[in-house]
Amino acid sequence: MKAVVEKEHGDAGVLEITEQQRPTPQAGQILIKVMAAGLNRADVLQRQGHYPPPAGESSVYGLEASGVVEEIGEGVHAISPGQEVMALLASGGYAEYVAVDARQTLPVPHGVSLVEAAGIPEVVATVYSNLCMVAGVGEDPADNQGKSILIHGGSGGIGAHAIELCVALGLRVFATASTAQKCDFIRSMGAHPINYRDEDFVEVIERETDGAGVNYILDVVGGSYLDANTRALAVEGAMVTIAVQGGAKGELNMARMMQKRLSLHGRTLRAQSAHAKAEVMQGVQRVVVPLISSGAVSVHVDRVFDLDDVASAHEYFDSGQHTGKVLLKMSEGISS
Ligand SMILES: NC(=O)c1ccc[n+]([C@@H]2O[C@H](COP(=O)([O-])OP(=O)(O)OC[C@H]3O[C@@H](n4cnc5c(N)ncnc54)[C@H](OP(=O)(O)O)[C@@H]3O)[C@@H](O)[C@H]2O)c1
Repeated sequence: MKAVVEKEHGDAGVLEITEQQRPTPQAGQILIKVMAAGLNRADVLQRQGHYPPPAGESSVYGLEASGVVEEIGEGVHAISPGQEVMALLASGGYAEYVAVDARQTLPVPHGVSLVEAAGIPEVVATVYSNLCMVAGVGEDPADNQGKSILIHGGSGGIGAHAIELCVALGLRVFATASTAQKCDFIRSMGAHPINYRDEDFVEVIERETDGAGVNYILDVVGGSYLDANTRALAVEGAMVTIAVQGGAKGELNMARMMQKRLSLHGRTLRAQSAHAKAEVMQGVQRVVVPLISSGAVSVHVDRVFDLDDVASAHEYFDSGQHTGKVLLKMSEGISS
């Protein structure tokens, strides 16, 4: 089968299609004939040599995919060949076939195409698990009345979904971005945009919340925002850091942390066990999938590239112009 594997590290030009052995589903796994795969920032970090796949996982790129079940492994009863699914992966999505623990897959939500579905699993699992299971955002809008959140990187794949989920769950949402166009996109989803090149997000939050601060922060910046984030949080506020695009180190005012009784968390999803991911996917199915099926939460696909154009897809992703998800579509008439 065709697949893109981690070989050399560097810019997008190092990515190429190779011929690989088609995987065999082990006990508890299903084999998916992939229709499309989602690009994630983690793929770029892997390409640059900063984020290897967890031990025991394949070196094929790709943390999420959609497709049709081709085969089932021993002990899989709830899924049958021919079903359309989307899958959360530790690796392996940039390929014509991928084998994955059946519990890390979900049926494609109503109203979503099989290609679009490729951009859902990593984003929804990351956002749902970090906001609802870790930070304490309520799963019912009634639990979130009067609560607010600040989402950094609001125009990216993660950020756009986080905004829509939080708006649907009844939170007041603020989100940062670097350009007027990205701020327009954020506004169109029902959030208050903050152009971090022109405005100080702490001042905006203070002004807009009458000095109270936000109850939650979803942080993809890390070190350089640590002090400002703790200033923007309300008393009893919670922040989850899921990326350190602004550096891994920062200075923490621990007196402020104690006085405001803040909770600061850091999480990665990829290295978690299949059991832990299964629990996340159950929550996603219960809370997020109905919102996607009803149209309350959309799937923002910016561009779709053919797998053969994987280097161009990464180049485009690297340029930072995208709003929402960039996807790779497998060629028609794929063979084993
Ligand atoms: N921990 C986990 O389990 C986990 C899982 C999935 C994703 N992630 C991480 O979450 C982040 C978002 O993922 P994604 O797939 O949505 O990537 P993406 O589409 O590239 O979005 C990244 C966003 O971050 C913003 N950004 C970059 N540098 C920034 C800075 N210094 N200050 C403020 N904003 C900045 C960018 O917006 P502007 O251009 O407007 O700055 C962009 O919207 C990535 O860093 C990814 O590695 C973590």
